[in-house]
Parts: sequence; structure tokens; C-alpha cells
Amino acid sequence: MKGLVLAGGTGSRLRPLTYTGAKQLIPVGNRPILFYAIDALVEAGIDDIAVIVGDTADEVRRALGDGQKFGARLTYVAQSAPLGLAHAVKSARDFLADEPFLMFLGDNLLRGGLSGLAKRFRSGAYAASILLTEVSDPRQFGVAVLDGDRVVKLMEKPQEPPSRWALVGAYCFSPAIHQAIAGLKPSWRGEYEITDAIQQLIDWGMAVDAARVEGWWKDTGRPEDVLDANRLILEDLQERLQGQIDEESQVSGRVVIEPGAQVLRSVVRGPVTIASGALVEDSYVGPYTSIGQDVRILRTEIENSVVLAESVIQDVDVRIDQSLIGRGVTVMGRQRRPRALGLVLGDQSRVEL
Ligand code: DAU
Repeated sequence: MKGLVLAGGTGSRLRPLTYTGAKQLIPVGNRPILFYAIDALVEAGIDDIAVIVGDTADEVRRALGDGQKFGARLTYVAQSAPLGLAHAVKSARDFLADEPFLMFLGDNLLRGGLSGLAKRFRSGAYAASILLTEVSDPRQFGVAVLDGDRVVKLMEKPQEPPSRWALVGAYCFSPAIHQAIAGLKPSWRGEYEITDAIQQLIDWGMAVDAARVEGWWKDTGRPEDVLDANRLILEDLQERLQGQIDEESQVSGRVVIEPGAQVLRSVVRGPVTIASGALVEDSYVGPYTSIGQDVRILRTEIENSVVLAESVIQDVDVRIDQSLIGRGVTVMGRQRRPRALGLVLGDQSRVEL
């Protein structure tokens, strides 16, 4: 079975972060979300993988390389425009040939991995196996109606969902999906929907199998999802203290401090991860925080947050909480009185004071 990982699209809901980078490369637990997707495929026994790329192709290629570090062989497939998940499959038609494949969305995270889905698909004569989970508000997802383990109907982002079973972005397909895609028309949102192609398989009388998510699942489409995903990933953190921690610092709980990171006169309360080259000085870093490479946290308190590489946060006199801070950002408190705010904010930034 081959693998197909989707790392194109626009990431409009994660602006301004995604003006300068691919949404699939935003790190949680200091690792790009996309890395967990490749790991999950390899763990399911799939190592021949195509990665769909769009405008951010160069950045994605630089991050993943040829796949050797994941134990995979990666092929990059350019999608001419983000015209939908079915269009992405069509773009990879040559790579996929007439083999079955597992498709996974590069901005989704699954605690339980993809092995269960692949196993179910391999064990039956299915045209497709799709992974589902029950959600409280299914309107922003593909939604399935089930009869036992059979999928009998599918709808993409319905206003009135017929069930609570949401498609979570992991699908196994037999080559029959290519015929179904060939006959698709664009949906109301102008995309070629994989959901409609699967419905076509059902209409042809083919068997579509419903697999259920084990453990948590997270679609990281919005900033609050990225913070949630970071929290979930840090729940499983294994302690590793390799950087420099001076005697005046206190580090407790499960904490990763990578080689080349420094913690000086500070309190770090895990789960926390601090990447190489980062400096935490006279500060407090609280639970569920990921501090990226070469970040400087000086005289500041921060928790429940994700700080991307090369940012500087200093002299902030209120605790930073639930914050997602992009690459190369400067956040600086003012010591002078009267106190005032001096702001240089990019388009569509969001600041809560
Ligand atoms: O997250 C699960 C949901 O993913 C499912 O419930 C829906 O049925 C499915 O259509 C999809 O909906 P989204 O609207 O959330 O998909 P999104 O546009 O966010 O794209 C998902 C991933 O695929 C993302 O990493 C970007 C990539 N992509 C997307 C499109 C439209 C591509 O590579 N090419 C594309 O043309």
C-alpha cells in the first residue's frame, strides 16, 4: 500500500502565521505537525509516500528532505492550485498507479496512529475504509451515516448534520476511487470533494468501511487547535535534560531541554519543551509550553503557549497565557513610566491585553 500526505492548501484560518509558512509545519511539542503524519504512515508499514505540495513546496521539502530520517521514501507532487482533496489525489495519479493507498491530511494529528485503519482495510474487500470520530458539532467536517460498520451516506460540511460521525482526514482507498474522482463536479465551496467521490463508491454499491478513532484526534486548522494539539502531544513527553540548567534554576515535571538550550535563574514546570539554542533567563515557563529554537525568554512568565523559532520575549510584566507566537516575533515590556504600549503588528495579528 502506498501513502499520500496532503501538505498543500492555504491555511487561511491560521493567518497571520501562515502568510510566511506552511500550516503543516507549525510545531507542536517543538516538532512540525507534518512530521507526526509521516511517522504515523511509517508505523502503519507504509514507506513509499507522496507529499502533495502547493505554494509552500520549498519549505515543506526542506523540512522533510528525502524521507530518510523517517525511514520513508518521499516523492513530492505539485498540485497546481488547492482545488480540493479529490483534486490532490488526481494530481498524484501517476505516483499512485493502480495500487491501494492511505491518504492522510498533513494538518491532522492522531494519538492512536494509522495502523488500525490500514489493518481493517487490508482485512476486507473494501473500496474504501475511512476513519471517523463522534464530535459535538459536526458542521465543519465531512459527516457519515453508518449502518453498523458500513458507511451508507456521506456529506461535506452539512448545515444539518445527519449524525455526529465526523471524517477525521484518514482514508484507505482501492484504485476504484480514481474512476469516482473522474466524474466529480466542484461542490458549493468550489472544491473537488473526496467526500463526494466516496459517496459515488457507495452509489455504485461498493463497500465502504467505517473505522473509529482510538485515542484523541486533532485537526489543527485554527490557533486554539494548535495550542490544544501542543497540550496533547506534551502529555506524552519523555523527560530529557540535555541543555544547561544553572544551580539557581528549578526544573520539575516532565521537561525536555535540548542540547544547546540554556535555563538560567528560572523556574520551569513541565510538561515543557525547550528547543536547542533557546535561552530562558530570570523567567517562569509553566505547563504545556513549547519554546522553539533560538528563542529568548527574558524576565517573563509564560504558560500554555507555543513560541516559534527565533522570537524574543522580554520584560513582560503580566503572565503570557494561551498564546501562539510566530517566528522571529519580538514582544517587549516597557519599564519606563507612564506605561504605554508601543506596537508594530502585521496584518491580521491578534493581541489581547
Ligand atoms: O480535518 C478533517 C476534515 O478535512 C474532514 O472532516 C473533511 O471531510 C475534509 O474535507 C477536510 O476538510 P477541511 O476543510 O478541514 O480541509 P482543509 O481545506 O483544511 O485541507 C486539509 C488538508 O489538505 C490541509 O493540510 C491542506 C491540504 N490540502 C487541502 C486542499 C483543499 C491540499 O493539500 N490540497 C487541497 O486542494
